[in-house]
Amino acid sequence: MLVRPRMPADEPVVADLLRRRHSERVARLRRLERPLDHPGLVAEQGGKLAGVLTYVIGEDSCEILTLHATERWRGAGTALLAEVEELARRRGRRRLWVLTTNDNLDALRFYQRRGFRLAELYPGAVQDARPAQARDTGQRQPRDPDPRRDRPRQAAVSSPTRVRRER
Ligand SMILES: CC(C)(COP(=O)(O)OP(=O)(O)OC[C@H]1O[C@@H](n2cnc3c(N)ncnc32)[C@H](O)[C@@H]1OP(=O)(O)O)[C@@H](O)C(=O)NCCC(=O)NCCS
Repeated sequence: MLVRPRMPADEPVVADLLRRRHSERVARLRRLERPLDHPGLVAEQGGKLAGVLTYVIGEDSCEILTLHATERWRGAGTALLAEVEELARRRGRRRLWVLTTNDNLDALRFYQRRGFRLAELYPGAVQDARPAQARDTGQRQPRDPDPRRDRPRQAAVSSPTRVRRER
């Protein structure tokens, strides 16, 4: 598994993978971000794309914005995570963190098995981000016939969860 920085020539295959995973734009606590606007790493196996990670370097931390494997369980996720950890360390960032949703049990397991710990839960934030997301993407906002019935379910199954690792 080869992991290297994403180059301009990778754009079409990376964009295609993000599109197929519905991640051309990702909601991040009331903001929409295009992963392709941020630096990234690609994993290759036999000359083919095996996975993509995008990240945001902050003042004292590094955030994983997206992480996708083209085929799961082949080591691309682990290889990309190891490389972004090394990159963050080289740049003197002591904290690496990621937001996922609490219904993404595979991701929570994946990160926790690799030394991350659950740090925060934002109940209802996915629901709250929807009007902003619909506005930004020009989508019509779905009507919410009974918010009292819908909200608790959303809060229970899909709340952004911050997972982080500190050195
Ligand atoms: C989360 C994700 C990035 C992990 O990437 P991956 O390439 O599948 O991960 P790896 O192959 O490195 O390791 C995953 C697990 O598969 C296991 N595995 C490896 N080969 C396996 C096999 N042949 N059969 C079963 N399990 C296997 C590994 O042991 C590891 O298990 P562990 O987490 O219990 O340690 C990937 O599942 C994915 O793309 N998910 C969808 C997007 C997503 O949720 N991203 C994270 C939120 S940002």
